[in-house]
Amino acid sequence: MQTATISFDRFNELADREADERIRAAKAKLGKHVVILGHHYQRADVFKHADLSGDSLKLSRLASQTDAEYIVFCGVHFMAEVADIMSRPEQISILPDLAAGCSMADMANLAKVERCWRELAEVLHPDEQVTPVTYINSAADLKAFCGTHGGIVCTSSNAPKILHWSFGQREKVLFFPDQHLGRWSGHQMDIPLDEMLVWDPDLEMGGLTAEQIRRAKILLWKGHCSVHQMFQPAHILKFRNQHPDGIVISHPECAFEICRQSDYVGSTEYILKTVKQAASHTHWLVGTELNLVNRLAEEVKAEGKTVQFMSPTVCMCSTMQRIDPQHLAWTLENLVDGKVVNQIKVPQHEAVLAKVALDRMLSVS
Ligand code: 13P
Ligand code: SF4
Repeated sequence: MQTATISFDRFNELADREADERIRAAKAKLGKHVVILGHHYQRADVFKHADLSGDSLKLSRLASQTDAEYIVFCGVHFMAEVADIMSRPEQISILPDLAAGCSMADMANLAKVERCWRELAEVLHPDEQVTPVTYINSAADLKAFCGTHGGIVCTSSNAPKILHWSFGQREKVLFFPDQHLGRWSGHQMDIPLDEMLVWDPDLEMGGLTAEQIRRAKILLWKGHCSVHQMFQPAHILKFRNQHPDGIVISHPECAFEICRQSDYVGSTEYILKTVKQAASHTHWLVGTELNLVNRLAEEVKAEGKTVQFMSPTVCMCSTMQRIDPQHLAWTLENLVDGKVVNQIKVPQHEAVLAKVALDRMLSVS
């Protein structure tokens, strides 16, 4: 008879040190049956247990390459979905806390995107004229929508390349859910700002006139990341006044003005690589999530480099933060016991179509 899973209640009160020891013990027992993937925003006490880490693009590749039976994803929900889609059917993708979602991903949903597509059809022929592009920070059914309608997925590290591919297919792009990544990537391709219009999914026809829709090159979904919108031009100005030789680097989820005033813009992996490879004794202001920035600051301080977080207020990815040592220990001990908790399983019909859009991305990147 199948026995019940171990309840999380027994782990809730676990002291961090004990959780840490139990994670190590469970990992040792599971050996090569498990791989822990960790996103760069993960808190330090969890990140240290990751076997492999990366940005969203790297992690999606790693998920498609691992042989481990269990992929424990220390990240957010859409990342564990991608791991499920990209891995073999017998592999199991697990998210230690199901509450670890992405607030930006939640700003678009299938019903609203389908409504947008129908409304666009009143003005043009979307399946002939518009390539739908979804940021990887989106639910699997939106990736499936792109797979169905000749579209593609992008990440923060390949978005301009993906846009280039998309314009090779059709004359316009519908980009969701992050308007900032879409705008910055379009700008990289020299698309004028007035040809990139915001589509507000809560307004009829996105709040645009038929003429505006006909003239637009990119329709930008009205979505954003709550962490990256905290950074302000005044923060950059203050840093530049204090460090005239300082260097500013930001994630493309930041608002356009922040990206424009930065010396470098790129994905989390790019930010880490750029600062680590920089000359010693340089001063950096970094516009991305705090866990990454704190870890980076520690790593490079021996070379005399300083790394400062862009905002004066603490802003972490609070959903990613939910993956704590207690949930990781709980997940792993269940696996040692032969039980799977918090499996992320994308329905087969959706996974097949989402994989079409993800595979297109990997072949273009
Ligand atoms: P990266 O792909 O750059 O790691 O970004 C993922 C993300 O969610 C940033 O907020
Ligand atoms: Fe989502 Fe923003 Fe968190 Fe990235 S930082 S996972 S976009 S909420």
